[in-house]
Amino acid sequence: MKNLSPETKSRLRSRSRLVHLGRDGDASHGFVNVPPYRGSTVLFPDVEALSTENQRYTYGTHGTPTTDALCDAWTAIAGAAGTVLVPTGMAAIALALLSAVGAGDHLLMTDSAYQPARRFCDGMLKRMGVETTYYDPRVGAGIASLFRPNTKAIFVESPGSQSLEVQDIPVIAEVAHARGACVIADNTWATPLFFPPHAKGVDLAIEAGTKYLSGHSDLLLGLVSANAGWLKRLQRAERELAIPAGPEDVYLALRGLRTMELRLREAERQALALAEWLSARPEVLSVIHPARPDHPDHALWKRDFAGSSGLFSVVLKPVPAGAVAALLDGLELFGLGYSWGGYESLVIPFDCASYRTATPWAPGGPALRFSVGLEDIDDLKDDLARGFERMRAAS
Ligand SMILES: Cc1ncc(COP(=O)(O)O)c(C=O)c1O
Repeated sequence: MKNLSPETKSRLRSRSRLVHLGRDGDASHGFVNVPPYRGSTVLFPDVEALSTENQRYTYGTHGTPTTDALCDAWTAIAGAAGTVLVPTGMAAIALALLSAVGAGDHLLMTDSAYQPARRFCDGMLKRMGVETTYYDPRVGAGIASLFRPNTKAIFVESPGSQSLEVQDIPVIAEVAHARGACVIADNTWATPLFFPPHAKGVDLAIEAGTKYLSGHSDLLLGLVSANAGWLKRLQRAERELAIPAGPEDVYLALRGLRTMELRLREAERQALALAEWLSARPEVLSVIHPARPDHPDHALWKRDFAGSSGLFSVVLKPVPAGAVAALLDGLELFGLGYSWGGYESLVIPFDCASYRTATPWAPGGPALRFSVGLEDIDDLKDDLARGFERMRAAS
C-alpha cells in the first residue's frame, strides 16, 4: 500500500477518501487496517523526552495511532481543522457545549434537538449557570431577535430529531458569527457526506458515530470536528475531561468508514422507496421526509444537502394506541428499539409534544420513526402491510 501524498488526498472523491484516508502502510507493516492500539502507559526513552513530552504519543487519553487514523480521515471528510473522539454521541454533544459556554452564558437551542441534549442543557448546564432558550427550528434569520449580549452559542440539528425540520444553517451562522457566538450542529442525520458542516458555517460539528459510521449497531462513539477558530477550545475541553473513546469501538468505526457512503446511499434509496409506498397507504396521514417535495422545508434541503439518509417519520391517521401496538408488536423485520443507522430496519413510536417547549407538535395522529436498513424493500413492505392489517383488526 502506497501512502498517499497530500495532493492526492485532496484530489480524491469522497468514496475513494473513505477507503484510503487514515491508513498508514509503513506504520501498519503493510497490513491493510490500523489495529486497535490499547493502552494507558506510553514509554519515553529518557527523562528529557518525559519532561518535554516531545513525542507523538504520551498517554492513552491523549490519542493513539488508531484514534489518529479515524480523526485524520474524519477531519478531511468533514472539511474541518481537527476532530476529537468521545465514547458516545451524547458525550460529543456535551463536549461541544462545554467547549463553548460557561457560567453566566446564554445558549440558544433548537426545539427539535435530540431529547437527551435538552436534558443536558436543563440539567448540568443549568446547574453550572448557563441559561438555555429553546427556539423554533424554522426561525431562520429571525434568530437575531433571540440573541442577548451574553449569548455564546447556538445549537442546531438539521433535520431535527424525529420531527425532521430543516434549518437554514448558513443564515443562522451568519447571524451568530456577527455576534461572536459559536455555531454547534448535530450533523448525525446527514453526515459530512450529505451536509459539509464547516463549509456551511458550523464551528463545532457533532456526529454520533453510533449511527451511520458504525452501520452495524455494535458500537457507541461520538465525534466532534472543529474549524480552525474553535479547534483549540475543543481540544482544551477534551484534555480537561479526558473521556477518550474505547479502542475497539474506534477500530470498528474505521471499518464502518470504508463502506459508509455505499450504505448511506442504499439507505437513502430504500427510505425514499418505503416513504413513497407509505404515502400511498390509506392508514397514513403524512410522511415526513425532507427529500420529498411535499416536505415544508424541501427547498432548503435541496439547496444545502447532497442526499438524505435512511431515517424519516410517518404520521398515521388517528387510531387507538392499542391498534398502533398491534401494528408494531407483530413486525418480523422491523425491530422496535432506539438508535438508528444500522444495517437492520427499526421503528419507534414517538411524541415530541412530551418535551417540546417553544413550538407545538400536533401532527394529527400517532407518529412513527423509521430507520430503514438493507433488507429487500419488498420484504419490508410485506412486513408493514401485515402490520396494517393487524392495526385495522384492532381499531
Ligand atoms: C441526532 C442524535 N444525536 C446524538 C445521538 C446520541 O448518540 P449516542 O447514542 O451515541 O449517545 C443520537 C442517538 O440516538 C441521535 O439520534
